[in-house]
Amino acid sequence: MQYSFDQIVNRYHTSSIKYDHPESFGLPDDVLPLWVADMDFPVAPDIQKALHEMADHGIFGYSDNNEEYFDAVHHWFLTHFHWDAKKEWLKKTPGVVFAIGTAIRALTNEGDAILIQRPVYYPFSQMVKANNRTLVNNPLTYENGTYSIDFIDFERKIQENAVKMFILCSPHNPVGRVWTKDELLTMAQICKKHNVIVVADEIHCDFTYSGVTHTLFPTLGEEFLDTLVLCTAPSKTFNLAGLQASNIFIPNKLLRDKFQAELNRMGVIELNRAGLLACQAAYTYGEDWLKELLLYLEGNLDLIRSFLSERLPQIKLVEPQGTYLVWLDCSGLGLSGKELNTFFGQKAKLWLDGGSMFGKEGASFQRINIACPRSILEKALTQLEAAIRTL
Ligand SMILES: Cc1ncc(COP(=O)(O)O)c(C=O)c1O
Repeated sequence: MQYSFDQIVNRYHTSSIKYDHPESFGLPDDVLPLWVADMDFPVAPDIQKALHEMADHGIFGYSDNNEEYFDAVHHWFLTHFHWDAKKEWLKKTPGVVFAIGTAIRALTNEGDAILIQRPVYYPFSQMVKANNRTLVNNPLTYENGTYSIDFIDFERKIQENAVKMFILCSPHNPVGRVWTKDELLTMAQICKKHNVIVVADEIHCDFTYSGVTHTLFPTLGEEFLDTLVLCTAPSKTFNLAGLQASNIFIPNKLLRDKFQAELNRMGVIELNRAGLLACQAAYTYGEDWLKELLLYLEGNLDLIRSFLSERLPQIKLVEPQGTYLVWLDCSGLGLSGKELNTFFGQKAKLWLDGGSMFGKEGASFQRINIACPRSILEKALTQLEAAIRTL
């Protein structure tokens, strides 16, 4: 191993959402934070070097995109996902949630129906509601410990509600599914048949566990490009969320122009220089770091899997195929959603994401972020075991 993911870096008092101010969430000071989706690992040294060079230069004026930026992004998606993106398709935004909100306003009208699949990353519904659109849910099916899609309900909901846009989470946060090519194709075909725009949020695309392959939506076929808004970012993969740079691809010129018009209305011109630099360095030099990170995360997953099955059989791991967010089925504890959150926060002193945030379907679940040094995860599991003994 070239990189050490075991190293514990103190993140307190760094204005970290994850670490600082547990009291504002009603949590004790000594709660262990394993919630919001950033990682407790320092970034790849080449990214840090690029940022140091920028800081050392000392002038932070308005900056423009450069040729190498697109080449780096393009090369990443070509080599990792066999996808040949065109330069003119790219729009850069300060975040994927920002892009989803922009796409909603640019490509649908107030009152239009937008489909999501709960339990899912909660800003999807927030964006739909905040923009006065109508939320339609095609809940995922949970059976025998795994999640799947009810395609009949998917199509029925689209037809009955005249759905205009579908926000796909691929891989799916929080349930950890990496959708198969067949599943994606079925959704793509149904959306095409009913002229539904697909906003594919593939921010977690680089996180797949051994033996699992992620299919990037645009590689499903040329025929699906015209109604696609593909949201990508280096922020999860390379731990750059605070630098706010994401790459949104819109192959259809009409949709792209509408998206751009919405960016113009918001006065968005160029992104933060640090975000662009970090993104370029990540996609240019980050390959080996990511390979090692994935191995380390797989080790953390092995730990949580064996700990739960040997020592905490009341909690079931929903086996993830991708992402570093692990969905825990806590129904065996027999607590309500609210009681579960109190138990985890106050008794076990673990700051996780309560499952009901992702929709009522998630009420008996908790989401734990395993992108931390293994010793922290061990500590968390031991705290959980001790708290469960008191129940
Ligand atoms: C599915 C998904 N989309 C988007 C985001 C956030 O993206 P951004 O910080 O670029 O808005 C997250 C963060 O956890 C996520 O899980």
